[in-house]
Amino acid sequence: MQLKNDLLLRVIKGEKVERTPVWLMRQAGRILPEYRAVRNSVSGFIELAKSPDLAAEVTIQPVDILGVDAAIIFSDILVIPEAMGLPYEMVEKRGPWFPATIRSASDLKKVHVPDVKDSLSYVLDAIKITKKGLNGRVPLIGFAGAPWTIFAYMVEGSGSKTFSTARAMLYQEPVLAHTLLEMITISTVKYLKAQIEAGANLVQIFDSWAGILPPDHYREFSLRYIETICNAITEVPVTVFAKGAFFARREMGQLSCDVVGLDWNMEVTESRAMIGDNKVLQGNLDPAALYGSEESIRESTGRMLESFKGARHIANLGHGLYPDLDPGKVKLFVDLVKESFH
Ligand code: CP3
Repeated sequence: MQLKNDLLLRVIKGEKVERTPVWLMRQAGRILPEYRAVRNSVSGFIELAKSPDLAAEVTIQPVDILGVDAAIIFSDILVIPEAMGLPYEMVEKRGPWFPATIRSASDLKKVHVPDVKDSLSYVLDAIKITKKGLNGRVPLIGFAGAPWTIFAYMVEGSGSKTFSTARAMLYQEPVLAHTLLEMITISTVKYLKAQIEAGANLVQIFDSWAGILPPDHYREFSLRYIETICNAITEVPVTVFAKGAFFARREMGQLSCDVVGLDWNMEVTESRAMIGDNKVLQGNLDPAALYGSEESIRESTGRMLESFKGARHIANLGHGLYPDLDPGKVKLFVDLVKESFH
C-alpha cells in the first residue's frame, strides 16, 4: 500500500524533503494517559504485549495523539530471550527480571534458536493489525535489541547499573559468550525478517548497553554481531542506535545500515564527520530538555535542528522518553520539528 506520509522513508532514500520527519523512542507506552487506561485493563505489560489488538491500539496512539511521522510496534526487546527459552517478568517499578539466567556452558541447554513464527506470532499478529489500523498513514518501525544488550539481560538476569556479571563473562568465558551471542544473532535475524514480512517498513536495532563496554570488547562482542544483522537485512532500511558508543562512531559509518542513531552526548558536527555523509542521522535531543519551560524547549529543539543543518536527519530524542514527561511538552517538541520547513 502507498503510504500517505512517507517522509521518513524518503529521507532515508536520500530524497530532498519538505521538512524533517520526527518520531520518539519509547513513544508507545510511557507517557500517555490513554496508554495507562489500556494497560490497566489487563494484568500487566506482558499480557498487553501478548494481546495483538491492544498492542496495535497502543502502537497507534502516539500517531493520533502526538502526530509523529512513524509508529513503532508496541513490544519489548526481551521477547527474544523468552522465545529462546528464558522467560522474563516485568516487576512493577523495578523492570525486567529473569528467573533463570545463563552463567555457565551447561546453562546453554536452557536456550535454543526459536521458530519465531510460532513463539513470536503475537508480535507478528500485532504488526499485521497495526498496519490495517494505520491504513498507510505513516510507516511502521519494527525492532529488536542488539545481541550484546540481549546477552547482558540473559546473563545478568535483570537491569543493572554495571552489568558486571555479563561483562565478567567476556573475560572469563569468551567462547561461551560468543556461542550465546551467535544464537541471539541468528534468532534476531529471523525475528526481524518475520517482522518485515508481517509489514514493518523499517527496523531499528537498540544497543542500549553499548556504552558500558571498552572499545575493543565493543568491537568483538557487539559490533560484529550488529554487522551480521545489518548484512542479513536487505529488505528494508535498518537503523542502529547504540547508546553511549561514541567511541565506535567511525565503525558505525562502515556498517551496511541506513540510519545511525545519536544519543545526546554525541556532538552532531563531530558525529557527522566521523560517520560520514552516507548515513542518515537520527536524534538527539536530551530527553530531559522536555522538562524545561516552553521557551526552553523551543530553544533546545531549535538548536538541535540547527546542528543537523536539516540534512539527512530524522528528529528524535537521544534516548527514550522518560515516563513522567508531560505529554503536552512532548507534543510541543513534535510540533516544533514539524513547523521547521527546510
Ligand atoms: O518505543 C516504543 O514505544 C515501543 C515499545 C518498546 C518498549 N520497550 C515497551 C516497554 C520498546 C522499543 C522497548 C525497548 C526496550 N526495552 C529497550 C531498548 C530501548 C531503551 O530504552 O534503551 C530496553 C533496554 C528494554 C528493556 C526494558 N523493558 C526495561 C529496562 C523495562 C523497564 C523500564 C521501562 O522502560 O519502563 C521495560 C518495560 C517496558 N517496555 C515497558 C514498556 C511500555 C513498561 C512496562 C509497564 O507498562 O509496566
